[in-house]
Order: sequence, then C-alpha cells, then structure tokens
Amino acid sequence: MVCLGNICRSPLAEGILKEKARAAGLDWHVDSAGTGGWHSGEQPDHRSIAVARKYGMDISGQRARQFHPRDFQRFDLIFAMDESNLRDLRRLAPTPDDAARVHLLLEYAYGSPAEVPDPYYHDDTAFEEVFHLLDSACGEIMGKL
Ligand code: 4NP
Repeated sequence: MVCLGNICRSPLAEGILKEKARAAGLDWHVDSAGTGGWHSGEQPDHRSIAVARKYGMDISGQRARQFHPRDFQRFDLIFAMDESNLRDLRRLAPTPDDAARVHLLLEYAYGSPAEVPDPYYHDDTAFEEVFHLLDSACGEIMGKL
C-alpha cells in the first residue's frame, strides 16, 4: 500500500488489509510505504491513528518508510493511492512486468480509475471518509484475491 508520505492513507490501508487477512485466516504479508521519504521513521498521523482506533484497530506501532525498488522483489501486488503515486512507482519499476504489478487501489477494487484523496491538509472528516473508502476497497480486494 503506497501513498506519498506513508503517514495518512497507506498506514490505514495497511492496517485494514492486515486485519481483514488475519480475520480470514490468510497468511499475507501486508506492508506500506511512501513514494517520498520526508516522514521516514515517524508514526502515522494522529488523525489516522484516531480513526483506526475508532474502528478497533491499532496502527500506532507502524513507522513510515520510503518505497524502494527492491520492494518489487518482495511483493506480488503494489497498490497506489493516487495517480501521482502510480506514476512514481511505475517509474521505479525495474521491468515492464514489475510496472504492471502496480495498480491504482480503487481501480483494482472496482474496475474504474479513482483516487484515494490525500486528507493531510483537511479535517477529521476527510480521514473518516478515507477510512471508509479504504475499508470498502480492501473488502473488494479480499473477494478478488
Ligand atoms: P499521505 O499524506 O501521502 O496519505 O501520507 C501526506 C502526508 C504528508 C505530506 C503529504 C501527504 N507532506 O507533504 O508532508
């Protein structure tokens, strides 16, 4: 799960997909990263921690990290939150086959392209909306995979 800073959207996506995989008894390795490294080592944004906690999930132990090209060897599927993340990730892909394993999350889930909006400069309501967007999309992904 990849966004820009790895402190708002992708930590939520990681927590949600991990929880759904665990509940389904699936031994999936789920991780998240940012295309940018400005927040490396930081906890998720307090608003992401709060909305996750509201829905019974503790994501406070996560630490931000920057996506690295070696992640293409470590993961079968890579989900980008928005078109900008998608472009950046595909640019880092070592091969065209690797680039093809990067998907826009909502497009993979629903079949038509849409972005998970960046809530960073917005209020708590935006984080709540992002949570539900990610929760539904991860439910769809579980069904597909
Ligand atoms: P994220 O949100 O990509 O969902 O983690 C952002 C977090 C930080 C910044 C931008 C987006 N930033 O500019 O520092």
